[in-house]
Amino acid sequence: MKKTFENLSRYCDDYLRSVNDPEGFWDQKASEFIWRKQWDKVLQWDFEKPEVSWFSGGQLNITENCIDRHLKDKSNQTAILWESNNPKEPSQKVTYQQLYENVGQTANMLREHGVSKGDRVCIYMPMVLELAYAVLACARIGAIHSVVFAGFSSTSLANRINDAEAKIVLTADGGFRGTKVIDLKKIVDDALGNCTTVEKTIVYQRVHNKINMQPNRDFWWHEELEKHSHICDPEIMDSEDMLFILYTSGSTGKPKGMVHTCGGYMVYTAYTFQNVFQYQSGEVYWCTADIGWITGHSYILYGPLSMGATTVMFEGIPTYPDAGRFWQVVEKHKVNIFYTAPTAIRALQQVGNDIPVQYNLDTLRVIGTVGEPINEEAWLWYNQYIGQGNCPIADTYWQTETGGFLIAPIAGITPTKAAYTGLPLPGIQPALMSSEGTEITNHNSQGSLCIKFPWPGMARTIYRDHASFRDTYFSAFKGNYFTGDGARRDYEGYYRITGRVDDVIITSGHNLGTAEIESAITEHTSVCEAAVIGYPHAIKGNAIYAYVICYETPEDTKTLRKEILDLVASTIGPIAKPEKIQFVTGLPKTRSGKIMRRILRKIASGETEQLGDISTLLDPSIVEEIITGSKAL
Ligand code: WT7
Repeated sequence: MKKTFENLSRYCDDYLRSVNDPEGFWDQKASEFIWRKQWDKVLQWDFEKPEVSWFSGGQLNITENCIDRHLKDKSNQTAILWESNNPKEPSQKVTYQQLYENVGQTANMLREHGVSKGDRVCIYMPMVLELAYAVLACARIGAIHSVVFAGFSSTSLANRINDAEAKIVLTADGGFRGTKVIDLKKIVDDALGNCTTVEKTIVYQRVHNKINMQPNRDFWWHEELEKHSHICDPEIMDSEDMLFILYTSGSTGKPKGMVHTCGGYMVYTAYTFQNVFQYQSGEVYWCTADIGWITGHSYILYGPLSMGATTVMFEGIPTYPDAGRFWQVVEKHKVNIFYTAPTAIRALQQVGNDIPVQYNLDTLRVIGTVGEPINEEAWLWYNQYIGQGNCPIADTYWQTETGGFLIAPIAGITPTKAAYTGLPLPGIQPALMSSEGTEITNHNSQGSLCIKFPWPGMARTIYRDHASFRDTYFSAFKGNYFTGDGARRDYEGYYRITGRVDDVIITSGHNLGTAEIESAITEHTSVCEAAVIGYPHAIKGNAIYAYVICYETPEDTKTLRKEILDLVASTIGPIAKPEKIQFVTGLPKTRSGKIMRRILRKIASGETEQLGDISTLLDPSIVEEIITGSKAL
């Protein structure tokens, strides 16, 4: 794709064009790709239903654009540069030609095992190259991938398999994570005890531990793969055919299977990747996310590959073998664009300024962040110690639901401001809404962040639950997509995200529903009720605080606390474990029985002076008890 912006006025022109003539704008962007059949209509939409389609009537295969398209000029260029968890294990360079062959072979293996267009494939794997091949192989044959982050528990995995009615699970014997080995196959075995749709699993051998292989159900990846040719013709997909499902937490207990489709998602991830990072041919780009999250889908795989980039895939964690690992990898691979999460930045900032300065970070040209608001202090540190004062920081605001960036700086073109995510990208029409539901049009204002007009990368529905899709995103502010976030707009129109305004907690960059955690805690036989909220935390951004009511006053709170933590880890995953658990005898509730989370949040943050009017509570005296208990924690 051509470079779009040369300077700020060019951004303004482009932005205006994208608003005045969105169809013309996106028609031109989409024309740069390989389509097997030209679309009939760029955009059809109705946010009331809601219904959105982009490039309908058009046909394509996204992998043809991510791989085959580059074989002419870039067959020997590295497509994926893989770095192990273990710094002593050699890194691997996969060229576009090799990617073509490996994806083709994996695709043929899946077909042989009965996977065809429209089937759902659950992928539960560590960050190995085969995970990338598996995702792309699904797309190659038109199967719908549902990647589940390999830190989720067997219960969460089973829920996701069942919701998607997955036919097959692709997994590994285990995964390396720092000094730990995660027994992925064991977790899959446990999950499958509660699943009926899965006929087979294919198991990649990564850690060589002893695992259970059930005959006729479980197959070894390496044994199956070698039976197949490297050439696999792409399945031709309609633009609006499903590409993947990816689950995200919401304000109900049930994770939502966000559905993304082929054409619009491809055009949008490519366009946003190219423009925000201003990627230049030959550069090495590294996004540290896991492919189990949308960031990995859009900005490790589809976006960079569709633009013919060299994308780094990292198996490890930022602190192993030590807190210099990220910077050592930047130096080793001469990384030009580095994209990570504020929680990682804060953690690495805390271990000291003397660590990054030991590495040569001069190759860096652009650095980015994603996942949660970045505080000014972390932004300044990132700018000084990692960007060395001369790399624009792309603070990219977006969501699983949005497929790609919504509000983000364009590196070197739109100015950045500490802790601001910046101006909306071309094609994105944000609106701040008042609590009365009207749009606030002036600058220097704050409200609920909505998007007024469709963009190609947006999710089309929640898998088999369109009513929830409508209720969650299109009903709070009629005619608008509601993000669930609050935002401030300054005097120049720059946005700063202030955080979730619903019952979702972003902790260490992970999105978790309070209801989901509460329901896990109340599974404990001693627990009668739980209320979970997020409170500010220096490294995690937000940490989880659980207020728990037991049937009887607990005698051994230490053991009970541990049991609750284990329960949360086994039902959702270790990422959902509360930082603090406080046992209480009651909760602040309105007369209609609604828990006043606002009060619980204030108490957890230590802001007990500003609780507001509590006289309308069912039992105002409970507040005093909770405050006292909280201080004692
Ligand atoms: C929520 C979406 C987008 C990929 C990773 C998370 C928060 C995300 C930013 C940012 C402030 C941000 C929002 C959003 N968020 N990026 N740059 N600044 N907040 O995806 O799990 O779907 O979470 O993450 O609250 O709604 P996700």
